[in-house]
Amino acid sequence: MTLPTTFKQQLLTSQERCENALNNAIKHLNISDPYLADAMVYSLLNGGKRVRPFLVQATAQAMGIDDERVDIAMAAIEMVHSYSLVHDDLPAMDDDALRRGQPTCHIKFNEATAILAGDALLTGAFEILVDMPAEFTIAQRLKLVSLLSQGAGASGMVAGQAIDLASVGKDVDLTHLERMHAHKTGALIRISVLMGAVCGAPNADTLQHLTTYANAIGLAFQVQDDILDIESDTATLGKQQGADIALNKPTYPALLGLEGAKDKAEQLRQQALEALRNLSGDTSALEQLAEYIITRDH
Ligand code: IPE
Ligand code: IPE
Ligand code: MG
Ligand code: MG
Ligand code: MG
Repeated sequence: MTLPTTFKQQLLTSQERCENALNNAIKHLNISDPYLADAMVYSLLNGGKRVRPFLVQATAQAMGIDDERVDIAMAAIEMVHSYSLVHDDLPAMDDDALRRGQPTCHIKFNEATAILAGDALLTGAFEILVDMPAEFTIAQRLKLVSLLSQGAGASGMVAGQAIDLASVGKDVDLTHLERMHAHKTGALIRISVLMGAVCGAPNADTLQHLTTYANAIGLAFQVQDDILDIESDTATLGKQQGADIALNKPTYPALLGLEGAKDKAEQLRQQALEALRNLSGDTSALEQLAEYIITRDH
């Protein structure tokens, strides 16, 4: 499997668009404390892969939509994701010192500031969805807020983080692991796809097929994250390699072995592609993204 250069170019263009959208979002937030502002910018504008914003954009594209509404949704999901990383790295959680190739927020600033920067990125995401000027209908804004809150909160990512922390050192089975991954990582990935969709006017069938696609790649994304924790190196990852083993985290390779985890990722990619075949718009970017997710090296 080799991704075409057109996909790489598309990802690059989307990443630049995301940087721009994030800069506009930060300006819109009018942050009143300079140290907090520094910590937020440090944790947000620091070279993430911007996979979730790309998903928003690629799904909106499949719906035939490409305007400033998409930029705002791209920025909002990345703000929530970046917050989740800041908190995930805190000593009370994974206690990591390296993120996106730089010292983690609590190391560079301090723990309290990292908690607050995370809080402000999270709330800021909702502020920009509600406030920033764009041709959204009120119904679209409400739907985006509803989706993002579900993905981020106690039925989504936060629940996944709770399950993750409660599972450390435990002998968990595959059903438990899948539930944990589907929440801690799958939820925001699913919501990225659905946020892209509701920038347009999707029907129930389309939403159903997109959800099936998103659930598959969301799980695949965390399976690959677990594989990279073993196979990659700290410099390429931009975060500490071997962190899962050091913390005794349950992972796909721990349960299925490395080859079993890779087979699982490929099965999930096939499931994702199958779901896309039911859609009529241009789904090429979504197809290639499914491959990127399981072949990426960081
Ligand atoms: C890392 O996410 C955390 C997980 C949910 C597995 P990414 O791999 O998307 O991290 P960045 O945003 O590119 O740094
Ligand atoms: C993080 O999962 C999922 C989040 C909700 C942030 P990990 O703990 O595996 O992410 P990394 O490996 O630190 O990026
Ligand atoms: Mg974690
Ligand atoms: Mg972590
Ligand atoms: Mg990980």
